[in-house]
Amino acid sequence: MVRSAILGTGSYLPKKRVSNKELEEIVDTSDEWIKTRTGIEARHIISDGETNSVLAQKAAEMAIEMAGISPEDLDLVIAATLTPDMPMPSVACLVQDAIGAKNAGAFDLYATCSGFLYGLTVADGLIRADISKKILVIGSETLSRRVNWKDRTTCVLFGDGAGAVVLGASSENNRGIMSACLHSDGSLGGLLTIRGLGTRHDLKKTLENEWQYIEMNGREVFKHATRALEAVSIEAIEAAGWADASMIDLFIPHQANIRIIEHMRERLGISRERVFINIDKYGNTSAASIPIALDEANRKGRLFPGARVLMSAFGGGFTWASVAMRW
Ligand code: UT7
Repeated sequence: MVRSAILGTGSYLPKKRVSNKELEEIVDTSDEWIKTRTGIEARHIISDGETNSVLAQKAAEMAIEMAGISPEDLDLVIAATLTPDMPMPSVACLVQDAIGAKNAGAFDLYATCSGFLYGLTVADGLIRADISKKILVIGSETLSRRVNWKDRTTCVLFGDGAGAVVLGASSENNRGIMSACLHSDGSLGGLLTIRGLGTRHDLKKTLENEWQYIEMNGREVFKHATRALEAVSIEAIEAAGWADASMIDLFIPHQANIRIIEHMRERLGISRERVFINIDKYGNTSAASIPIALDEANRKGRLFPGARVLMSAFGGGFTWASVAMRW
């Protein structure tokens, strides 16, 4: 049976780091509030000249190098993002050109914070159907351009960054993606939204109303996220044929709030050492959060052949997803 396995990982964070203390000078907040309510201590933010596709390119090059392939071996580039450089061309096309993936198709995938897991699931299906052989899946965001730096309820939460993996076929029975579960509930989309900058409202109206920025009902999103993440994680564990969460060697949750992660960990019964956390350093990087964490875990030696890995994410839309894999 052909499964798809991760052959290489990469990640890249912009150089500029902004601490909670620095945010105290911009909005009415405190290091203490941000740390205790979210677990975030700092985030990385793009500077002039850095763009989403530049971060994505750097993460992609690292993943390709680790996979030991040439960019020309790729037959598809998928970039999960909600903050592309521009509506057209896509981030995936910009990366395809920048890395010289001459034989690859390319498209962006829009599923907010769950985007990377949606991308991985699509890529897994294409590989198992023998439509593609090697796919670059990227999660890349520059949300610093979409937060209102006067709104303390959102600007302290998000950061920029990119992560990428190369996915390819594996005939080893104990390696690769074992299950993938995708869900959505569009009826709750208004609880986490960027109302403007699409085609519904003209630009003048958008700027007058400041609809170019993220708006979030944090408390409601928190409630839905905790419930949905627990359920989808259990669903993916069962679909993978694992007895329960105690079989997981590493849990890589979306890094949105340390309290959500802790709640999930307790409900699923996973010990602290088996949960990967880096929200303190980067904040919520949306679609980039899981691939950045995956790359860090990989480079730190936290993943070993055959390790059972569970990844779960929740985001605007709402969308949520879980992927279970053997490393
Ligand atoms: O990645 C996509 C999914 N996103 C998420 O999963 C995010 C889910 N939500 C959350 O993580 C949390 O709801 C937040 C971190 C966004 C907010 O934490 P909370 O404990 O739910 O706070 P809250 O919204 O209930 O606000 C509590 C208080 C309020 O003041 P009052 O009304 O009690 O006087 C806020 O105005 O905290 C205040 N507050 C702040 N104070 C200092 C909100 N933001 C800040 C801030 N600094 N940055």
